[in-house]
Amino acid sequence: MGDERGPRVRMCRGCCCGTRAKLPDVDHDAVAAVLGNDLGPGAELRVVDCLWACDLANVVVVNPATAARASGARPAWVTEVNTVDRARAVADWVRRGGPGLAEPPAELGEVRTAAGLRRTTA
Ligand code: FES
Repeated sequence: MGDERGPRVRMCRGCCCGTRAKLPDVDHDAVAAVLGNDLGPGAELRVVDCLWACDLANVVVVNPATAARASGARPAWVTEVNTVDRARAVADWVRRGGPGLAEPPAELGEVRTAAGLRRTTA
């Protein structure tokens, strides 16, 4: 196994994502708790600074597991992760393997690569 790793999830907590100033009605702590607790073994959560897609906050990027990456899978951008249910859908996908290994849950809607994302500033 050696370098085999599960998906790595990047949860944006920059100038907008995770802030009540940008999204006052979102329970950011509850969303973060789901991502922090429910990703399953082998996955890793990292909190990152602004990913330059603030209009689509809260942004979560799911990096493929090592094996999937080697097979061509690319990081998946999940936008508007603004409810516990949506965070649970991300966690479910990650537990099942994430990009390249499992289809994303239908409730996540469109999951894009960075190339397909409309990048914006705050
Ligand atoms: S703060 Fe998350 S994309 Fe800018």
